[in-house]
Amino acid sequence: MSILKELEKDLKTIIKNAGYEEESIALEPSNRRDLGEYQLNDAMQLVKIYHKNPKEIAEDIVKELQKDNRFTDINIAGPGFINFSLSNEYTYEILNKINLDIYSNIDKKEKKKIIIDYGGANVSKALHVGHLRSANIGEALKRLAILLGYDALGDAHLGDFGRPLGLVIKEIKEEYPNLPYFDPNYEGDYSEIELPITNEDLERIYPLASNKSKEDEEYLEDARDITMKFQSKEKGYYELWKKIVDISKADIKNTYDSLNTNFEIWNGESDEMEFFDELYKICDEQGLITDSEGAKVIEVEKSDDNSPMPPLMMVKSNGTMSYDSTDLAAILERKVNFNPDEMWYVVDGRQSLHFEQVFRAARLAKIVDDNVSLEHIGFGTMNGKDGKPFKTRDGGVMSLKNLIELVNNETYKRITNESISQEEKKEISKEVGLAALKYADLLPYRGTDYIFEIEKFADLEGKTGPYLLYSTIRMKSLLNKAKYTEGIVTKLKGNSEKDIALTLLELPNVLDRSLNTKTLNEIAEYLYKLTALYNKFYADNKVLVESDEELRNSWLTLTNVVYKVNLLLLDTLGIKVPNKM
Ligand code: ARG
Repeated sequence: MSILKELEKDLKTIIKNAGYEEESIALEPSNRRDLGEYQLNDAMQLVKIYHKNPKEIAEDIVKELQKDNRFTDINIAGPGFINFSLSNEYTYEILNKINLDIYSNIDKKEKKKIIIDYGGANVSKALHVGHLRSANIGEALKRLAILLGYDALGDAHLGDFGRPLGLVIKEIKEEYPNLPYFDPNYEGDYSEIELPITNEDLERIYPLASNKSKEDEEYLEDARDITMKFQSKEKGYYELWKKIVDISKADIKNTYDSLNTNFEIWNGESDEMEFFDELYKICDEQGLITDSEGAKVIEVEKSDDNSPMPPLMMVKSNGTMSYDSTDLAAILERKVNFNPDEMWYVVDGRQSLHFEQVFRAARLAKIVDDNVSLEHIGFGTMNGKDGKPFKTRDGGVMSLKNLIELVNNETYKRITNESISQEEKKEISKEVGLAALKYADLLPYRGTDYIFEIEKFADLEGKTGPYLLYSTIRMKSLLNKAKYTEGIVTKLKGNSEKDIALTLLELPNVLDRSLNTKTLNEIAEYLYKLTALYNKFYADNKVLVESDEELRNSWLTLTNVVYKVNLLLLDTLGIKVPNKM
């Protein structure tokens, strides 16, 4: 149990010893710090139950509080608000405890298995800025869930089964009509075919094919036909499709790596569709499938819906699978292979209707138990200065690779440390760039849009990733310079150290709320708050040259604690800390 939760439990006992029952105590730092570090307003609430004057109740509680030497400056304000502070000795104890074991300041949850779907990159199309937020938010939520004791697995859920691939294969057929893949009489070994196509080619081919299909009805028709062919595993087309998926997947993995985003499961929509037949059977047996102009659909409307709820598309009228059915099949696949307690979908908020349809269909078909939660964790878009989704200068879709490069160039310019070689600087600027991009993405509440402001994100001052990295590295370098290995806090001097301790104490609540709401903004804010408090302390005190050995050692230990908490939380957000910058 975290120190905070223990403290809350003990306060409950103290109140009980005073003769009153309180269900639970929520300790929050007081905003009247002149009166005390914490305020208990329990006496006011207990009035209703015990029909006594609040002051009387407060006095009874205070008498008990005074017996506990962890508390000091105990006083009653107004009609019965109890104020108190933590004694110095107890503050040192808290810091020493966290220093010894950082997890003593974290409350683990009851174990649960969770599958988090936060990839969604599309095979043969370059990852674009739209995939950035799901990667950042999803990865961080997964790390947070694991930190708090869940068994969480990330699934890349690649888009590898839809029409875009039909279009790509159509264009390859146009350009290389003699490839054996297109020869229905080919008897040879497909693995021996040299495909003259690289990932760059694929990234060129998709937009070309997509444009052609918009102007040429026949071209589009062919692409649809091809889509059906590889979906139904027609030999040559299916083999070519597999090859394209392999080429593209390697590149997708690289891009996710550069975002420090790792998936435990590398499924694609095609893997989920292996479950389609079983899914269809289940839905059909329940009488859920109906015909709609040649398509097979599931009605998911409810009588109390107050906005339109279109049916879920199982099979399109042209016989191809739809986006809806891939997600429904994925639920069945996950149930069968992992049997998780929860499934989280970290996907653009604009897809909320799609997920509502899919979740409703899953419940109707009973492919998951009622107690398995299905949740769409939506997010807003990253916009340009014009308030529209961020684009390249000429208005095109910005690839993730280009975006990352843009940010890295900006952070490169700002690394002025002369002792760093050019080569090293390049590597470091990647880590700083990642911090800039991730922190800026996680700082606003996930539901809101934000504007991409590269100069601001890369700044070494202010609420930015680089500021956090710079400060954290400075803590480490202070510890190194002082040759600190271990120590304990036995003495402190001013208010800023106390503020740091109280802020550290708050951590379990911050983590709890973040997990409950599946948001990261509070952790991002907390990191900044703790770091800024530490930096103030650092500016006010000359730790390294302090002549009082005891004080110096205590300060170094305090530094060590903040350093460790920063490392842990940065890692939770998916941010790497370079050795220097
Ligand atoms: N591939 C889709 C796209 O790029 C996103 C997939 C999101 N995840 C999901 N389970 N539907 O729009």
